[in-house]
Amino acid sequence: MNVKQIGAGPMDNFCYLAWAGDGPDCAVIDPCWEGAKIEKELLALGLKPALIVLTHGHPDHINAAAWFLERYEGLQAALHPADDHMAGALDKSRLLPVADGEALEAGALKLKVIHTPGHTPGSCSFLGPGAVFTGDTLFVGEIGRVDLPGADPEQMRQSLLKLAALPEDTVVWPGHAYNGSTTTIRAQKLHNIYIKLAAKGGDAFLSAAL
Ligand SMILES: [Fe+2]
Repeated sequence: MNVKQIGAGPMDNFCYLAWAGDGPDCAVIDPCWEGAKIEKELLALGLKPALIVLTHGHPDHINAAAWFLERYEGLQAALHPADDHMAGALDKSRLLPVADGEALEAGALKLKVIHTPGHTPGSCSFLGPGAVFTGDTLFVGEIGRVDLPGADPEQMRQSLLKLAALPEDTVVWPGHAYNGSTTTIRAQKLHNIYIKLAAKGGDAFLSAAL
């Protein structure tokens, strides 16, 4: 899997282009803030958007999705239905509901949906060959907020355990540039205090996360 990380907007968000490499089709993961800039990167790589993939419904991750949907006929945006209520600016008929365990396709690239609620009810991570896109569930040494409406710290704990169970050499591509731009599951199991506490149990995790 090829991955292009693109920083966008005032909140240090990351958008990603992911593609298999044997054709122009790519997934555009969390198109945000700067649609024209993201499209410019995409075209420079000889790519075309085959699927928009949204890690969750918060505006700072999806606020350029409509920009792409307006310009690319037939393009859909994959989003877990539990976050549909946050995606009011998007045409509902263009949303592709996803569920845990499903495989999404963008050309030859397959991305497995891992439902990782906690930051929001519909937060998902997307696992491609050798790498996972974690949105606001897992950052470098940090995790997403669990004190916002719809957040659930115990669900976040369970979701972190799901991610920690991935192969240790899996590359992590987070949704924000907090403490760095990329890491691995191995490094997070060693150094991310929240993953360590998640494994120890609910009380220890909750007192740190809230
Ligand atoms: Fe978020």
